[in-house]
Amino acid sequence: MSREAKYDKCWLRHEKIKYAAISPLLKSSVKKIMHNSNSCIAQNAAFELRSALETILEINCSLSNNISNEGAIFLINVSVESDYRKTLSLHELEAISNDGYLVKSFIENSFTNILIASASDTGLLYGAFALIRLIQISADATEIYLLEKPACKLRMINHWDNLDGSIERGYAGKSFLYENGHISSDKERIRDYARLLASIGINSIVINNVNVHSYETTLIDERLEITKRLSDIFRLYGIKTFLSINYASPVDSGALNTADPQNLEVQLWWKNVIAKIYGEIPDFGGFLVKADSEHIPGPHTYGRNHAEGANMLADILKEHEGLLIWRCFVYNCTQNWRDRITDRAKAAYDIYKPLDGEFRENVVLQVKNGPMDFQVREPVSPLLGAMPKTSQLLELQITQEYTGQQKHLCYLVPQWKEVLNFNTHTDDEASLIEQIISGKSTSSKFFGMAAIANVGNDFNWTGHYLAQSNLYGYGRLLWNPSLSAETIANEWIVLTFGNDKEVADTIEKMLLDSWQIYESYTSPLGIGWMVNPGHHYGPSVDGYEYSKWGTYHRADSEAIGVDRTSKGTGYTLQYSEKNMRIYESKEKCPEELLLFFHRLPYSYVLKSGKTLIQHIYDSHFKGVNEVEQMIENWSRLSSKIDVGRFSHVLNRLNEQLENSKEWRDVVNSYFYRKTGISDYLNREIF
Ligand code: GCU
Repeated sequence: MSREAKYDKCWLRHEKIKYAAISPLLKSSVKKIMHNSNSCIAQNAAFELRSALETILEINCSLSNNISNEGAIFLINVSVESDYRKTLSLHELEAISNDGYLVKSFIENSFTNILIASASDTGLLYGAFALIRLIQISADATEIYLLEKPACKLRMINHWDNLDGSIERGYAGKSFLYENGHISSDKERIRDYARLLASIGINSIVINNVNVHSYETTLIDERLEITKRLSDIFRLYGIKTFLSINYASPVDSGALNTADPQNLEVQLWWKNVIAKIYGEIPDFGGFLVKADSEHIPGPHTYGRNHAEGANMLADILKEHEGLLIWRCFVYNCTQNWRDRITDRAKAAYDIYKPLDGEFRENVVLQVKNGPMDFQVREPVSPLLGAMPKTSQLLELQITQEYTGQQKHLCYLVPQWKEVLNFNTHTDDEASLIEQIISGKSTSSKFFGMAAIANVGNDFNWTGHYLAQSNLYGYGRLLWNPSLSAETIANEWIVLTFGNDKEVADTIEKMLLDSWQIYESYTSPLGIGWMVNPGHHYGPSVDGYEYSKWGTYHRADSEAIGVDRTSKGTGYTLQYSEKNMRIYESKEKCPEELLLFFHRLPYSYVLKSGKTLIQHIYDSHFKGVNEVEQMIENWSRLSSKIDVGRFSHVLNRLNEQLENSKEWRDVVNSYFYRKTGISDYLNREIF
């Protein structure tokens, strides 16, 4: 990378490949790049290809929209020239509708050509990025045939950025979207971010925090210009812009003294605001709403249910083909510890399940993967798949709020894969989460995933260099949730670090083990939390036990855990019969979630033959040892990775080691003192 680079290029580094590995196919096929659509998106597809071929293969191509077969890459939007449809099979035509693409090599007049075909310009852009990826991963290919379409229709990224440049739960510097109340002056960086997102198939962005403060409320009116300017950039890469709004905006803006959805003045207020937005941004995506959640107002404030509240906005947005994304992160955050009936885990299902069928068609419910809040391990939310008449989006968190804040290495793709592979048993035909987010299980029109971004203005975008793999992995799963965590890790490593085997093997192992390592020295067996309240970094076993957020572990000298079975809070009853039976039983419950569902004595014997308390001690010692091992493994790569990236990662790993020791000692000491039971191996416990 050149010295002046202001920020890292992530997986779009496009480093030169040694010639020996390149097949004659690629060497001879790329003299020209031609496109039959003149939109900015199609042109960007051509630019991407040209610049990638130049840096990866050192081939200079000319761009043209004159179609002739003489060794070229053709970017063909089949909706622009329907003649091309005739050359494709029905199967291919079906796949390339809705942003899919066909990339195939063919020989004509003794020239090798590559066709990238799609029914949309965005599909062409995705096809171009796919070809670039393929060249880097299998440069020795002698034939190319890729026919792909995205699984998720909505492929969203949520930014929790505020206009002052701060980012809620951001661990990679400040916002690169905003500074001091304005859009950031570095538009090039925003554009490069749009490229990164498009290269992994993301098609929608929410540009501001779900907790919408007064200043950000003005993004819908006074400061609409900012929204417009950002959407002008993201549009160039096929990305629609959405805004988080405050449900009480009519009040917050000073216009009215109520935000009651049934009030005609409120409706008129929103009608005008929304019309103005679409007047400026005709392809505006819509709103994301966090309502009646964590002290934020919503329909409940006015005695209305969430369908009534959402439908009012959805009806107005519908006139402009807009969507209303409604978050289901709603629970009582002022629970008294004496109250053993209320269970935060049950809240979303209790509120939303009875409303199935009452939401308008353009309302999409956004549901966090677990019933609590992005803990290192949670069961899958029982609300997912439980509302067949309602569109749902799965919400993931890429930013590592509870998983080490991008100081610790935690590759989250394996965690997400567990969620995607979960069988809800709510539908006879398609009840895996993977199928639900791919729209296979309901008649709903909108489906997919949203995730909270982990990026900021740090040079490397993600704080921890290796955390780039989480953003990359999220995008790849949006496109194809069946890809394995290994495949994704491997792709990312080759694109980011090249294809040296030792480097690839070492980083792959680090990534794949990292979630389990983080889990083993933090909170045990699905109980979650045990982080310092507020900022959520580092250990505090009782931090949340003595606060009102409803996240109790209820540890005493005899036992730990909340009984969430039918005999306890009844949370298990929210699952389908089959899953309910599994979670009800201590023996059948997956052990990694045991303490989420059951209250157990420390002497309880696990499948390993160890007692619960011994498991806690052992896993905490083991976790720290594994971090030490990671450091050793990484250190062996010193001569193979550039100094900047090598020492950055080493520093992060050393920081992780220190913090993991703190976790180990705090957690082990807490349970030792609570129970008085010694470690079987007599290791040092304070
Ligand atoms: C968590 C997080 C908050 C965030 C909230 C949400 O509670 O700590 O910062 O606002 O989730 O998802 O709305």
